[in-house]
Amino acid sequence: MAVRDLRHIVTSTVHLLVVLVPQPPQVLPQANDPCWCGSGRKYKRCHKPLEGRVLQGEVSPMRTVPAHIVRPSYADTGAVERWNESRVKDPDVIARMRRAGLIAAEILRAAGEIVRPGITTDAIDVFVHEATIERNAYPSPLNYHGYPKSVCTSVNEVICHGIPDSRQLQDGDIVNLDVTAYIDGVHGDTNATFLVGDVDPASRQLVQVAEECMWHGIEAVRPGRPISDIGKAIETHAKKHRMGVVRAFIGHGIGEQFHTDVQVLHYYDERASMVMRPGMTFTIEPMITLGTWQHKMVFDDDWTAVTADGKRTAQFEHTVLVTDDGVDVLTAPGGVSALAPWRR
Ligand code: MF3
Ligand code: CO
Ligand code: CO
Repeated sequence: MAVRDLRHIVTSTVHLLVVLVPQPPQVLPQANDPCWCGSGRKYKRCHKPLEGRVLQGEVSPMRTVPAHIVRPSYADTGAVERWNESRVKDPDVIARMRRAGLIAAEILRAAGEIVRPGITTDAIDVFVHEATIERNAYPSPLNYHGYPKSVCTSVNEVICHGIPDSRQLQDGDIVNLDVTAYIDGVHGDTNATFLVGDVDPASRQLVQVAEECMWHGIEAVRPGRPISDIGKAIETHAKKHRMGVVRAFIGHGIGEQFHTDVQVLHYYDERASMVMRPGMTFTIEPMITLGTWQHKMVFDDDWTAVTADGKRTAQFEHTVLVTDDGVDVLTAPGGVSALAPWRR
């Protein structure tokens, strides 16, 4: 029996058992040799079909946040309260969101700088966790609906919500880091995809087009226009490069709550008829793929989403504000990609 299978049987001792989750060796076995995982089965009947795919590693225990940091209400229970929050924010909320956005952007940029072959996504989580606390902010993902870590780390075919673990980043990987900071009662949410060492040209192009898609979406933000303009701009650009747009995960209203009811589709749907108004704040975070837009859930964590065809996917995210004459990017100053690529 594969070691991973044990985890489904003895779920109450997950912490002990995950230590056993092995990672593949540098040199892989021949098809008919025993699998590297210790299952006793032939490699071809065990892990060979997953060759080149991201495997789960060991997830370390949840980290704690010092008592002086103001916590969102879900921090202690994992249960997310929802309340009516105005879509159009007061100037005071916007001022606080600028600070939260700037902090999230700074942390994302710093975290991107430690990405290199050999570092574990768990070490990136430790870095983000500490960098957030250092700035007197709470790492919004931590215990949000029970999410166990302070950042999402999504590698290669992982679309989003990858959980940091003991897997080391490999030369040639791409990794998305999704950082959200909570300070002064509001959230700032931003992500970017980083290259790990020497990355193949198709993946590099994917990352570039994903970033361009986000900027096309941002530039479509205009008061008085329907929110479907954003998805239209993103989908048009992705199609031009024959890339897919993930549909299952969308941008969202944000403010005093991490996710509000404002929905930002990254593809065109005429039903997305909500009109953008000055003072609205939401995220734009397209997930672009080298293959299909469909996703599947193959990890046993109920979080990690991967592409249905196993092809790579990349994402970028900013929190934006609708202004009187266009858009303001609240997570751009000092952050990753403060300017659209074609304006740099
Ligand atoms: N930051 C993600 C987003 O862009 C949400 C992560 S939810 C978490 O919406 F629980 F996984 F952190
Ligand atoms: Co978001
Ligand atoms: Co995010």
